[in-house]
Amino acid sequence: MIEYKDKERLFFIKAKGFSYVFYVNEAGMLQHLYAGKDVGSIDIKALTDFGDDHARHYLKAGQSTESVFEEGIYLNHSLFEIGCGGKSDLRSPTFLIGSNGDYVTDFRYASHSIYKGRPSLGVLPHFRDPKGEAETLEIILKEERKNIQIRLSYTVFAGESLIVRNTEIINTGKEKAMVRKASSLCLDFPSNRYEFLHFPGDWAYERQCVKEELKPGLKVIESKSGRSSHDHSPFFFLGNKLEEDHGEVFGFSFLWSGNFKAEIGVYKQHDTRVDLGMGEMDYSLDGGESLVLPEAVVFYSSEGLASLTHTIHDAVRKHVISIPDLSLKESIVLNSWEGCYMDFDTEKILSYLPKAKAAGCELFVLDDGWFKGRNDDGTSLGDWTVDEKKIDLNKVIGVCHELGMKFGLWFEPEMVSPLSDLYTKHHEYAIGDERRLRTLTRHQLALDMANPEVEEEVFEQMDKVLSSYDIDYVKWDHNRALDEQYSPYLARRGKLGNFAYESVLGYYRLISRLEKQHPGILFQGCASGGGRYDLGTLYYFPEIWASDELDPVVRAFILYGTSFLFPLVTFGAHVGKNPITPFDTKAALALFGTYGYELDPTKLKEEDIVTLKKHAEIFHKYHKEVVSDGDFYRLSSPYTENALGIECLSKDKKKALVFYMTLLKENRGYRFLKIKGLEENKLYYNDFEKTVHSGSYYQNIGINLSGFRDEFQSNFIILEEVKDA
Ligand code: GLA
Repeated sequence: MIEYKDKERLFFIKAKGFSYVFYVNEAGMLQHLYAGKDVGSIDIKALTDFGDDHARHYLKAGQSTESVFEEGIYLNHSLFEIGCGGKSDLRSPTFLIGSNGDYVTDFRYASHSIYKGRPSLGVLPHFRDPKGEAETLEIILKEERKNIQIRLSYTVFAGESLIVRNTEIINTGKEKAMVRKASSLCLDFPSNRYEFLHFPGDWAYERQCVKEELKPGLKVIESKSGRSSHDHSPFFFLGNKLEEDHGEVFGFSFLWSGNFKAEIGVYKQHDTRVDLGMGEMDYSLDGGESLVLPEAVVFYSSEGLASLTHTIHDAVRKHVISIPDLSLKESIVLNSWEGCYMDFDTEKILSYLPKAKAAGCELFVLDDGWFKGRNDDGTSLGDWTVDEKKIDLNKVIGVCHELGMKFGLWFEPEMVSPLSDLYTKHHEYAIGDERRLRTLTRHQLALDMANPEVEEEVFEQMDKVLSSYDIDYVKWDHNRALDEQYSPYLARRGKLGNFAYESVLGYYRLISRLEKQHPGILFQGCASGGGRYDLGTLYYFPEIWASDELDPVVRAFILYGTSFLFPLVTFGAHVGKNPITPFDTKAALALFGTYGYELDPTKLKEEDIVTLKKHAEIFHKYHKEVVSDGDFYRLSSPYTENALGIECLSKDKKKALVFYMTLLKENRGYRFLKIKGLEENKLYYNDFEKTVHSGSYYQNIGINLSGFRDEFQSNFIILEEVKDA
């Protein structure tokens, strides 16, 4: 619910259990007052009292010209909705817009409206409003000197603890304006005591958890690689004390897949500013044009990280992802990559299919290597035609269908190999300045997605393959960072600085066109594993290949970190060929994700097939209700407890799946695993002890796992509510 109090010019945004309040101060600036646990009322005077007599006296005297407004607002210690860069607010500015060295902006309130629904953002990912529950406050702010307007909006959804923020920058003048910085989010807190949880990583080591205490100064996390990256996730948390089951915690992210920069500053006035945006840019905004920024979101809980995780997972499932066909999404996949890489022919692939079927597979995905001349990673990206000498695709698809399996194909649409017909014809389609040495990664260049001709070319090629063959699933990869953010197309138009934004928009346009054209296909996202696992990509790809790392121990850390950010229904997890860990452990762990296989099925032993089949049955019995749609709990952290302990609980609290894996072998001693979230007074049977206990027993005493402490040993436990003991 959003209220406006006319007398005080106060905006009171009420999300579930979360109040967010600001007002239009005497100078017409949006001054932030409060974000936190719901409160009934706000006292502007008390909240803006800085408690410094000297400053007050100084202000009242009105002697300063540079740091004081006529109305007496000292910018550097006030909290704002828009950080006023270039004036005496010396914290991270929200906008730097202008020309010729003058990037100071001073936005003042012009008007506002409150309406049902939410603004439309076209292909830019945004929170969908499937049930029409959104309510929006939209404010117009003007920078008179520069003919720039901001349309700033806040959207809430009934019954949810989050606020979505949108910004559009409009050049109302005739002259071009340069946008050097435009952040999607600015949130000021009148406190400097925060812990910060963020998720750095690497290829095959994505989304690790790092918790640190914020100290005075600026903490920056960012990606400059043209994609959200393996290096850091554009998603982070702030709380006074970050704990699973207690305390106030804020989550921040935006629906964006490109460069990002988050600056969290702790300043001398004992305040903290969170600033999240696309980082430095040099965007040229012509007269009459507007720039819509990526949509930001603030999630809130007053009850710790577990409850925040539930809020985030529910929101991502409801507002971000869209699943075209549920039975397809719930199909067990065998992906060919780890089984044979590009070394295959029709016969080899055909030999996979019956074995895959025997292990419970329902969808076969042919990974890299199926298109013209592609036998290693040195050639052919950009030439999306089937290599008929290598693979008879119709035959493979036919056999899949005979076996009752669906079929999927790998693409890497935004890339080109220098050794390809596309590059031979169109050098100018690749990014980078041809006059300089450009970097090759994996022997490939990135396509200039800011160029509409490139988008058209790739669309046509992919559309042709998807229309000519019976394809249910596409794995969409992206195997290099955009090191040279240079678009030959934009350079010719004098708009090179627009690349970081326009290339991501090109990516969104391409996938959105293909999804419209082929509405039945399920698109899986991938970027050398999880290099583009963000809310923007999830808007189009309801699942992401979470990591190229299949080792269950490393995966345990990746899963643990990712669980803070994204629901498991999006988490691509397959059983791999790693010989050290038992199949039981690998399969049980993969159940806490999309579940599937990534191996050569002809090499599976009979007992492995039995194990996979058993887990396939569990998948079909429980996965949708318990894992895909349920609540996730972290029971034991691999970072601090030498074991991963996780649980998924169905929303009706009747069924739970629990997984516990020891990492290094431990000496003997007690070990009880406490299960969370069950109904205290209800009875549950667990198939591990084969006995019945009450919810409060599981929660307070737990299951005794003292006898299980070998390296990589795992326990997989199913709990189900029973009526009588
Ligand atoms: C990337 C992906 C892998 C696989 C290969 C194919 O590394 O993450 O899963 O698809 O590309 O080249």
